[in-house]
Amino acid sequence: MPPLDLGVLISGRGSNLQAILDAIAAGRLDARVRLVLSNRPGAAGLARAERAGIPTRVIPHQGFADRDSFDAAVVAALREAGAAWVVLAGFMRLLTPTFLDAFPHRVVNIHPSLLPSFPGVDAQQQALDHGVRITGCTVHLVDTGTDTGPILAQAAVPVLDGDDRDALAARILVEEHALLVRALSWIAEGRLRVAPPAAPGGRARATIAGVDTALGLAQGGRAPEQVGEGA
Ligand code: GRF
Repeated sequence: MPPLDLGVLISGRGSNLQAILDAIAAGRLDARVRLVLSNRPGAAGLARAERAGIPTRVIPHQGFADRDSFDAAVVAALREAGAAWVVLAGFMRLLTPTFLDAFPHRVVNIHPSLLPSFPGVDAQQQALDHGVRITGCTVHLVDTGTDTGPILAQAAVPVLDGDDRDALAARILVEEHALLVRALSWIAEGRLRVAPPAAPGGRARATIAGVDTALGLAQGGRAPEQVGEGA
């Protein structure tokens, strides 16, 4: 298969973008990043792209009358750059059908919770506030909802005693980087299958042929036989 031609959309730090760039450079991901596009000027991720010699664009969303016209401009930039797949790597905008119809089942997002729990902003604080013992991250295909699209893969991360938002977010982020690169490499290997909803109004389902996409508890999780032994 030819390498995946990626467009990566960011709004900020770009550490997931960096994970993609590092994996490509190390030969762990058969892909080319054709464009890094930010809706925020000065997003730190833009400098990461520039360091790697990747073309960048900034399209501030404030300059557009509505979501559709912003999305149409982003689609045009991605097409012009030769992107066939789109990765949302900390891109803080919902996408319209104008965008999604241009890249059907080809827009991938990374989210820092085990969806469908805790969609939207600050999923890590939501998990802490709720008191869950296990959270994690999810790679999914994007639809018009907030973090509602078909799930590709998930990794679990324990909530540890004394965790605050930043500590938990930092441990989830390690798993995000690994999971996103894995999911993209499965796509690059041609393993992604998308089944349409079984009934009108139902959910599309995504599967990855031939691999286990449920990653167990990482970083400080205890094996079942240890549970109940006390500290
Ligand atoms: C990550 O936690 C990602 O899951 C969420 O936004 C954050 C982006 O971080 N969607 P970065 O910009 O990739 O460092």
